[in-house]
Amino acid sequence: MIDESLDAIMHVMEQAFDPAYGEAWNRRQVGDALMLPNTHCVVVGAEPASPLREPGDAAGFALLRHAADEEELLLLAVSPQHRRRGVGRRLLVQAMLDARARGSAYLFLEMRDGNPAEFLYREFGFEQIGRRPGYYRGAADGPIDAVTFAKRL
Ligand SMILES: CC(C)(COP(=O)(O)OP(=O)(O)OC[C@H]1O[C@@H](n2cnc3c(N)ncnc32)[C@H](O)[C@@H]1OP(=O)(O)O)[C@@H](O)C(=O)NCCC(=O)NCCS
Repeated sequence: MIDESLDAIMHVMEQAFDPAYGEAWNRRQVGDALMLPNTHCVVVGAEPASPLREPGDAAGFALLRHAADEEELLLLAVSPQHRRRGVGRRLLVQAMLDARARGSAYLFLEMRDGNPAEFLYREFGFEQIGRRPGYYRGAADGPIDAVTFAKRL
């Protein structure tokens, strides 16, 4: 099960993140995370009823970490060819349902300032709770702030 999820996640990961920002995780990082009992993933296909028979069928994924009554959205990604068709929205809905089912009361996330993902997060009622100046230093065009959002589930 972990291997299947890992292959599907890496299929999306390799296409979804702009290398200019160094945000993508490598296979080992994801594999190690999935081994932890408090780390969970959601993987979906291009359409709500799409079967996931092989890694290439994955259109997007979310990776979450649960601690006490809090959950952190570690990564959310959709392959470029499947964007703006509601896949990200579907992932976020499922991630929030799963988090609530695990007993979480809050969902936190952190993103690079200026990431258009903010539009999606705000649509779901996430509110900005913090900013870390110059937190992302891997960016080709200089340090970028990290912005933290939270939502009560
Ligand atoms: C952010 C991301 C997951 C969104 O996935 P998606 O499947 O395109 O999102 P959806 O189609 O569900 O979008 C839902 C709504 O969010 C908003 N939205 C999503 N992407 C947007 C963009 N690039 N610009 C403006 N609004 C955007 C829109 O309101 C959109 O609704 P609409 O298409 O009806 O206007 C995707 O762009 C992605 O994988 N980005 C790269 C990885 C990343 O930066 N992840 C977030 C940080 S971990």
